[in-house]
Amino acid sequence: MSESSTGGSPGKATFTRRRFIIGTVGVSAVAALGGTVVRAPRAVASGPPSGPPTTTLPLPTTTDPEQLLLTWGRDPATEVTVSWSAPGTVAQPAPVLSFSTQPISAHNPGWLVKLPDPRPLDVTERYGEATAISFTDGLNGQTTYFYHVQLTGLKPGTRYYYQVSDGAATPSTAGSSFETAPTGRAKFRFSSYGDLATPSWDLNTSGNIWHESCDNSWYAVTAIENPGDGKGAPLFHLLNGDLCYANLDVNNAPGVWRDFGNNVARSAANRPWMPALGNHECEFGTDTIHGHPGSAPGGIAAQGAAGNYWNGPYGFGHYLSRFLLPDNGVTNWDGNRLRGNFYSFQVGTVKFISLDADDIIYQDGAANYVIGTANAKPEVTTTGASIPNGTTTYTRFYTGGLKPDAANNSLVPDYASGKPNLQTIWLEQTLKAARRDPSVDMIVVFMHQCAMSTSVPGNGSDLGIRQAWLPLFDQYEVDLVLSGHEHDYERTYPVRGYDAGEHGTVVAPNPGQTKGATVDTRRPAVVTTEPYEFGGTPAWNTAEGTVYLVLGGGTNGPTNTYGTDTTDDEPQAKVITTRNAVVGSEATGFVKDGADSVEDAPWSAAINPTDAYGYSIFDVDPGARPGETTITFQYFAIPAVSNEAGSAHDGTTTLPTQPTEKFVFGRRVGHP
Ligand SMILES: [Fe+2]
Ligand SMILES: [Fe+2]
Repeated sequence: MSESSTGGSPGKATFTRRRFIIGTVGVSAVAALGGTVVRAPRAVASGPPSGPPTTTLPLPTTTDPEQLLLTWGRDPATEVTVSWSAPGTVAQPAPVLSFSTQPISAHNPGWLVKLPDPRPLDVTERYGEATAISFTDGLNGQTTYFYHVQLTGLKPGTRYYYQVSDGAATPSTAGSSFETAPTGRAKFRFSSYGDLATPSWDLNTSGNIWHESCDNSWYAVTAIENPGDGKGAPLFHLLNGDLCYANLDVNNAPGVWRDFGNNVARSAANRPWMPALGNHECEFGTDTIHGHPGSAPGGIAAQGAAGNYWNGPYGFGHYLSRFLLPDNGVTNWDGNRLRGNFYSFQVGTVKFISLDADDIIYQDGAANYVIGTANAKPEVTTTGASIPNGTTTYTRFYTGGLKPDAANNSLVPDYASGKPNLQTIWLEQTLKAARRDPSVDMIVVFMHQCAMSTSVPGNGSDLGIRQAWLPLFDQYEVDLVLSGHEHDYERTYPVRGYDAGEHGTVVAPNPGQTKGATVDTRRPAVVTTEPYEFGGTPAWNTAEGTVYLVLGGGTNGPTNTYGTDTTDDEPQAKVITTRNAVVGSEATGFVKDGADSVEDAPWSAAINPTDAYGYSIFDVDPGARPGETTITFQYFAIPAVSNEAGSAHDGTTTLPTQPTEKFVFGRRVGHP
């Protein structure tokens, strides 16, 4: 069931390590998998395409509403934002939303909200109650349209019905219903994963297959509407970044987003889906990093060479057009409002915080055009944009700088520079306020990249997160940190502080590093490896230490092979301690380095080498205050669909009815 050994080093507590290996034969913790086969509608296209399209494909010209998407407003008990899109490059004539506590019908038309004409994305503006946004993709020139209505003043814990219409002479409509969040010390269920991607051609609206398309993505959405334990869909879902990988299909990013939107709408039309930004939300385009059109001499073809290779602000134009998220009230140093880049909301007694780790990580993993052959031509797209070889988008410190604090090898906002990191300042203010608020028991952070991961083919653990945010997670006792980025599952023990003096080793030096040198990886310190028991389920006291979960979703490209130090059989993690440099030249071609260092990783508590993907269900029971408040966590694997390796594109899978892991995360609240 597990392997045990003693770890630790002189001067520190010695503990027993148990790293649960999920899914291997004979592991008693894994219940026998049973379930129902979910069968999907058959293909739109008549046969599988040979691969991702290499040219820009036209989008539909109909205006029928689709891609319905709900998100919470600032107060989920009373505010929900309803969003939708037109299928393609034609704006809807006169879009309107109607909503009511009774089903919408001819007899009950509901309250009507008419939308204004679309305006191009401009994140320096405030958005009104009803907003229509257009966004023109910098690489293929297609303009797509997004509609948002911010409903406020709703009743808590109440079901609302809604319908959207394109307002055409013969209107086309779509709709569903949702439930607002309860208030006070209420029980509720939420779910989470990252790295969703798009289904394959047979389940995509367009009939295309994209770079990360995989039918796992279809089943991951299906599972949220009908979780394996049979106890019903969650109130809302957290989507931890790398939403659809549109930045990999440079000729068709709007088309990839459309297929994502329609897949997700099968759930997001019925309950809020709350996203976090990941590296793949950053796209190439022809704007400056701030989102202003590039103005380099030489026209569009020269924009990439001039550094104007961003698709909207920080490359996030599609994301910021599609999602109108709770406002953090922060305006960036460049004048852009940072609404949606990071945000918080509270449901019941839990504070949720979505972060954009692109801002503080070392790794360089967003859009990139890095070709290893000599004299490779620039990447030239439909609009004539020309991206030179060796180009990457890198947004570290886009909300301001951090500086070292030698006292604990951390990074803190660099006030002396005049432009301290605004996201980190906001995070500390938000955490401090939450811990002072008696209505908040637990804090759940979700973001894309990982502070801790032992994946070998994946990205690894990023020291930037450990330096900038883990000291805050420790100080304010964040209970859970959920991530994606690695296409696998991993769970840590509760950790707090770091193992000062426990250094990693440089194994793949970046410029300025020496192979074999020691490096301070600020390794998180394990609090305990022995769970207590709560109602017969193993439990961790998250007041003592934060638990980190890596939650794979549904992409192609699993990374669920995990590192072990062969000299001592300890789990081993890759750690990124410097920017993974792009090295080379036009004449030789370019390569991008990976993680530079490794560390022993006693913090790794559970991995799943069998199934890369899955979904997580969290049941919050606030209990009484004073008393014990708990979140019961279940992880359900999604067994690989047959097309995962890219062979046949018509796979089905059996979704398990038993969780692969079940834990309780608890803390006592309200005690002196
Ligand atoms: Fe990913
Ligand atoms: Fe990622």
